[in-house]
Amino acid sequence: MTATLPTTLGQPLLHGTDLGELRLPNRVVMAPLTRARADNPGLVPTALHAAYYGQRAGAGLIVTEGTWVSERAVGFVNVPGVHSAAQVAGWRRVTDVVHALGGRIVQQLWHTGAASHPDHLGGDLPAGPSAIDPRARTFTPGGFKETLTPRAMTVGDIEATVEEFRLAAANARRAGFDGVEIGALGAFLFAQFLNPRLNHRADAYGGDRAGRRKLLLDVVDAVTSEWEGRRVGVRLSPYMAATECFVVDEELLGDFDELVAALNDRPLAYLHLRGPDLAAPGETPDPEAFARYRKRFDGPLIANNGFDRDSANALVGAGGADAVSFATHFVANPDLVSRFALGRELAAGDPATYYQGGPQGYVDYPAAG
Ligand SMILES: Cc1cc2nc3c(=O)[nH]c(=O)nc-3n(C[C@H](O)[C@H](O)[C@H](O)COP(=O)(O)O)c2cc1C
Repeated sequence: MTATLPTTLGQPLLHGTDLGELRLPNRVVMAPLTRARADNPGLVPTALHAAYYGQRAGAGLIVTEGTWVSERAVGFVNVPGVHSAAQVAGWRRVTDVVHALGGRIVQQLWHTGAASHPDHLGGDLPAGPSAIDPRARTFTPGGFKETLTPRAMTVGDIEATVEEFRLAAANARRAGFDGVEIGALGAFLFAQFLNPRLNHRADAYGGDRAGRRKLLLDVVDAVTSEWEGRRVGVRLSPYMAATECFVVDEELLGDFDELVAALNDRPLAYLHLRGPDLAAPGETPDPEAFARYRKRFDGPLIANNGFDRDSANALVGAGGADAVSFATHFVANPDLVSRFALGRELAAGDPATYYQGGPQGYVDYPAAG
């Protein structure tokens, strides 16, 4: 008798691929997930982080939660950084565990810019492209707070920020990561510079499309200079209507088209694209979202947002992306790849525990069977 096994053969997601120098045994990527578990004064990743990422080492590639490139980048509680020696040592334990379990892991680098709050910055005002409030919310030790009107960054601030990204990329290499991902999405620093509503600068970092993308490209050049070969990815969210200041229109999409063409000339491992969120207000479904960037970027593309096993297999099978990343599914299904392979049901995570700290809702989701 032949058992009806849900085989891997019909699942393009389960076939290996290369993203630059990164060799993936499958195309199921763990998307970055802020989990606010570094509840110690130095924002150091702990043994809990090693356990959490180790449980998910079956992913073709893990992208860590966003991590601070400096103290000035901070804009959320209990998120670990990668700028101090203690943080590098903490991350080394994480990468050692993931590698011992056969996984691959890249570190997402994060800077919140104007979307921070004085409560994160020792009372200082956050800095962004111009003195314009991004009208976002930030999770502070006192709960969610509205952002304020930031200070406009000087050219010196910008150059220092580029250097902080370069140092963080070097730290990630020392911590044993396989690469880094520049987090240029959401309502955060790079997205603020790219946004004509928030970037009113008249200098080289504003004024027109080329000026607005200069900060990100300078950072890409600095970060790639720290890595041999293609081990740096960039994550973008052109369709994200993160706050009322982030409006998705043809002008902005045109800016992103040119940005992606410029990224195409850089030695990147991949482009990680968050597509439209069908449930989010202000975001319109666009069936061409991934095709638009596939045309403009010759390197590997990771697609994200709202995928399940079937829709991800369909996209990869049709050549629309090289890999698909999953965030919320990885919260509650540490063994997501084997669940896909075996056709097992997926567990649902509890959003109340996403940021609450501690092991509950973090390392206590069991593998199936
Ligand atoms: C709890 C939570 C934390 C997140 N943290 C990050 C983050 O640190 N960096 C990032 O680029 N995206 C972050 N995201 C966005 C996810 O990576 C992903 O784009 C989004 O959840 C959609 O993917 P999904 O449908 O597979 O969940 C986060 C999402 C959630 C739900």
